[in-house]
Amino acid sequence: MSGGSADGHLTWRQLWAETADHLGDANEARWMCQEAGGLDSIEWATSLDDAVTERVVARVDAMTARRRAGEPLQYVLGSWAFRTVELMVDRRVLIPRPETELLAGYAIDEARRLASRRVVVDLGTGSGAIALSCAAELSIEGTTVWGTDASHDALEVARANAAGLGRAAANIRLAAGPWFEALPEDLRGDVDVVVSNPPYIAHGDDEVAADVLAWEPHDALFSGDDGLADIRHIVEHARHWLRPGGVLLLEFGHRQGESVRQLLHNHGYRDVEIRPDLAGRDRIAHARR
Ligand SMILES: C[S@@+](CC[C@H](N)C(=O)[O-])C[C@H]1O[C@@H](n2cnc3c(N)ncnc32)[C@H](O)[C@@H]1O
Repeated sequence: MSGGSADGHLTWRQLWAETADHLGDANEARWMCQEAGGLDSIEWATSLDDAVTERVVARVDAMTARRRAGEPLQYVLGSWAFRTVELMVDRRVLIPRPETELLAGYAIDEARRLASRRVVVDLGTGSGAIALSCAAELSIEGTTVWGTDASHDALEVARANAAGLGRAAANIRLAAGPWFEALPEDLRGDVDVVVSNPPYIAHGDDEVAADVLAWEPHDALFSGDDGLADIRHIVEHARHWLRPGGVLLLEFGHRQGESVRQLLHNHGYRDVEIRPDLAGRDRIAHARR
């Protein structure tokens, strides 16, 4: 990257402008500069005319090159905000999405209604987005949150994220294995909330964005010929793990609402509701054992 101030030192403002020029996006450029310098918003605003170090310039250059090669912004930055938590994210995990913030919110609302103790299970935790949000936002006393994943790589990321959570991390249990098999037997029939954002894209779906396909883990995306294989499994088994009255919350694809509703009815769940995402499309199922 070229440029510099009159005295030869590049300032944050200049680095930002040059990076924005390369990326065609001033916000992304600012986030990269802040990430490279470890600056929060206030530090950023008060440092704009300070000189940057060569190390920072090299970091921003490297991030710019990755972004221009098509890598998603979140992986380039290496972290992303989800509700109240800042999550480390890389190619081992799905990038947490805004609709999943809603799903986590529903799980938190359900668990909050319980007076003395609450057990939440987040199946396919990935970066730990849902599980960590539950632990962070629910009362420290009486809360246990399980996060499971079949991917050991993903669990390493979730573990690193949990370590940064502070006191609430003591309430998180992370476990490896396929869906409910990761859980200890003594939880059977004792779980208050099962929440999951499982893979729900049909193999061969040609609507999947090219950057998602190229960069995000396929085990986190695809689920059988109709996208419903994992949802079917979770719906079938969740009944045995929920306590009577316990709640199942699932994210699904925007065209799967009717199939998921039917599936939940067929398995005897009650209070079945299909809820919309921020764009108003069917996205989240709520059901009670
Ligand atoms: C759509 S991602 C969701 C990640 C995270 N919960 C989120 O919302 O950002 C689905 C997750 O399910 C995990 N997964 C896929 N198949 C699984 C299985 N059979 N058992 C457990 N987890 C599985 C993937 O590794 C991935 O982390």
